[in-house]
Amino acid sequence: MSVLDENDSVIDDDEIVTSLPQRYYTSAEQFTEDVEKIWKRQWLYAGHVSQVKSPGDFFTFTILNESLIIIRTRDNEILALHNVCRHRGMRMCEGSGRARRIVCPYHSWSYGTEGELLAASPQQSGLDLDFDQLGLHRAQVSVWQGLIFVNFSPEPLREVEDMVGPEGTAAMARLEPEKMKVIHSHVYPTRANWKLLLENGVECYHCPTVHHEFCKVLDPSAMTGYYAEDYNASLVQELVIPLQYGKDSLTLSGNVASKKLLGDFGRGTPIPPDYSGTGFMTQPGYTWGDFHPDHAMIATCYPTGPTSSEFAAYWLVHEDAVEGVDFEVEDVIGLWATTHPQDAMTLERQQAGIESSAYIPGPYSASAEPAITGALDLYLRMLGER
Ligand code: FES
Ligand SMILES: [Fe+2]
Repeated sequence: MSVLDENDSVIDDDEIVTSLPQRYYTSAEQFTEDVEKIWKRQWLYAGHVSQVKSPGDFFTFTILNESLIIIRTRDNEILALHNVCRHRGMRMCEGSGRARRIVCPYHSWSYGTEGELLAASPQQSGLDLDFDQLGLHRAQVSVWQGLIFVNFSPEPLREVEDMVGPEGTAAMARLEPEKMKVIHSHVYPTRANWKLLLENGVECYHCPTVHHEFCKVLDPSAMTGYYAEDYNASLVQELVIPLQYGKDSLTLSGNVASKKLLGDFGRGTPIPPDYSGTGFMTQPGYTWGDFHPDHAMIATCYPTGPTSSEFAAYWLVHEDAVEGVDFEVEDVIGLWATTHPQDAMTLERQQAGIESSAYIPGPYSASAEPAITGALDLYLRMLGER
């Protein structure tokens, strides 16, 4: 069967050989299914432990209709509490902060850091409330290497720790990512279906055309080789962005942008000239983090509608690094702050083209886009279509 014969010719001899039919990128019905079968079932990156450093510290993680309060309890446990008051449903918290109690801004019911109902306001005292039954609902939470993942499913398919092999875990542990802090973040609204962000993120075929600055530091052909040879579609895995030989970090200059180096390197181990750092990726709901001897960038993509998404980028350095002494924010963020808008603009134009009546699925390159097949295979399997 020719892959271009008809709009639905995606799979040939059990291989995914073309982009998906238009409805996967545009339809409200498909989007509803994506949310239920993907976004509410897979582990999602919510934030870094430095964002909840002390008991009572919290931040909110909001995706579509769901909002979680990620909080460190009095007992130093990190929990994900649904941000929905058990009285009449108020969304209680916005942003981040530190709290001994979560107090609902509607009728002042208050909850402890574990979500337990502590008090209902005087108007409610006449009611016979069963406090034990009125705590905040919880989502699943898992902390791996200082990275906080959440899952809306009561029974996640796997544990986060089981999704990455020992080599990937060791590569991350070497940089001690739990001893970092977020120094900058930015949200990029992108009028494109979330799967276009995923597909774009697992190929570097577009890099020489779209990312001139990026390609001065990394080797796009090695990137394709990495995807072809070392890449396994799973939810959390080792990710390496191959830098050009002799470059120390993924910055505009290729030099480290923060003098306070991470892990081994902070204790004097020289950076090998062929060291490219490490990282992780989740998919099909797509987050990736790239970690270098001096800094990390984590970008998490999430849908806001059938044809719109956002991705939030976070830049991290060593927890003891001092701005103005060890680093300047512009140096740390410069490369991705240049690259992310290039991707966003490109994907918006791709979305526009896909919405045309002239769009039919087009052929993926087996050599230059090998990882898209794995990513979409996982996606279609989670939908139950493979
Ligand atoms: S809705 Fe929260 S106290 Fe009433
Ligand atoms: Fe890109």
